[in-house]
Amino acid sequence: MTAAQTTPSPVLDKLRLTPGHATIVGLQWGDEGKGKVVDMLAAEYDLVARYNGGANAGHTVVVEDQTYKLHLIPSGILYPDKMNVLGNGVVIDPAQLVKEITGLRERGIKADATNLAISDRAHVVLPYHPYEDKLLEETSASPIGTTGRGIGPCYADKALRLNAIRMGDLTDPAKRRAAITRVVAFKNTTLGALAKAHGRDFTPFDAEAIIQATESHMAVLGPMVTDTASMMHLATDAGQSVLFEGANATLLDIDHGTYPFVTSSNCSSLGAHTGTGTPGHQVPNIIGIAKAYQTRVGEGPMPTELTDATGDRIREVGREYGTTTGRPRRCGWIDLVALRYTTRVSGATVLCVMLLDVLADLPELKCCVGYTLDGEPIDHFPAGCDALARVGPVYQTLPGFKGPIDGCKTLADLPENARKYLDFIADYLGVPVVLASVGPGRTQTAMG
Ligand code: IMP
Repeated sequence: MTAAQTTPSPVLDKLRLTPGHATIVGLQWGDEGKGKVVDMLAAEYDLVARYNGGANAGHTVVVEDQTYKLHLIPSGILYPDKMNVLGNGVVIDPAQLVKEITGLRERGIKADATNLAISDRAHVVLPYHPYEDKLLEETSASPIGTTGRGIGPCYADKALRLNAIRMGDLTDPAKRRAAITRVVAFKNTTLGALAKAHGRDFTPFDAEAIIQATESHMAVLGPMVTDTASMMHLATDAGQSVLFEGANATLLDIDHGTYPFVTSSNCSSLGAHTGTGTPGHQVPNIIGIAKAYQTRVGEGPMPTELTDATGDRIREVGREYGTTTGRPRRCGWIDLVALRYTTRVSGATVLCVMLLDVLADLPELKCCVGYTLDGEPIDHFPAGCDALARVGPVYQTLPGFKGPIDGCKTLADLPENARKYLDFIADYLGVPVVLASVGPGRTQTAMG
């Protein structure tokens, strides 16, 4: 048995988590601050596993005076004794992953086969994927506003099956050469034709250059590629505990999000199971992460968006600019109708409310507690973006609270109106708020 399961843990107790596996999942449109909670909780688990997405995600972790921006590597890497897993549901850009590993090693952080495992079933993002992503976006009549990291094209190739490459295909030099040669020839034909159809110049991808680059990347990554599903089954059988780290967020889930303005993976907690090969009944804890307000990057409806001075203030105080792309995020009041939907889809058992400090000193706080559609009240979160775009928010206004709150260590330390705000959210969702983030630092959290 492991420390996580035998020794009472004050942190697990404060967060009302039972022994065993847990999933951390964003409940809005991403950027909820999951990295901070994962980083804090990683100390309590034996393995930390990413199950979806790719370098489109960006996790910022602040440790003392150091800021780490991780895109692919699980935040657990900052603890030397944890095993970090990139599951089969993740799409891996080898160049980006090697860049992250090198960056960590340069700062004295261990990242090698002893603490990082990559699924041999994970699909590979190669240079033609970001090109395809951008070409499709730029030539579409209705672009998604993607991160341009090649995520959609890679998952599309996975689903199509004819021109996909998995990490396991890259470990053997002859297989790697054959796969890249074949797929690059295909992509040069299809992407070349598409570019030309839109009147663009097209420089064919050089298969030999991609093979050479991949060879050098695999010199670093090769020893880490393994059957992570079996590895995790053995770990579970041995009583070890896993923290599943969702990238992106539930409203961006390909099936349950605001389609088509979503990403291409199952980023709700449901993806933890297909994305690692771990069955649902083995994960009793689902930690839902939500900001104290709402943000969104890219296109798509956002019923509580604020295009006024309050929205600008939230963006500046909350430093709401994309970790991956630097794009300014759209900001608005917390949307409890959307949150109730995602809380149910992801099955959140507890809730962490992040960036509460950003709302300090606002005279009043609004919570969206209902929608009207074409003027009529509705009781659900619409499936279609055309309906969601026509939705009007119904607000309940609560009194604001004064800052600073960054010294609050427990929820009881928070100003009364901040507590009332959290209680209101918890009551509406029917899920307890167990943590509030009160500042960007690793320890600036109020819990228990
Ligand atoms: P893609 O994942 O690059 O295909 O982008 C699809 C949509 O998901 C775009 O609106 C992106 O801005 C959004 N998106 C993807 N990942 C994240 C994330 O981690 N945070 C916020 N938005 C994201």
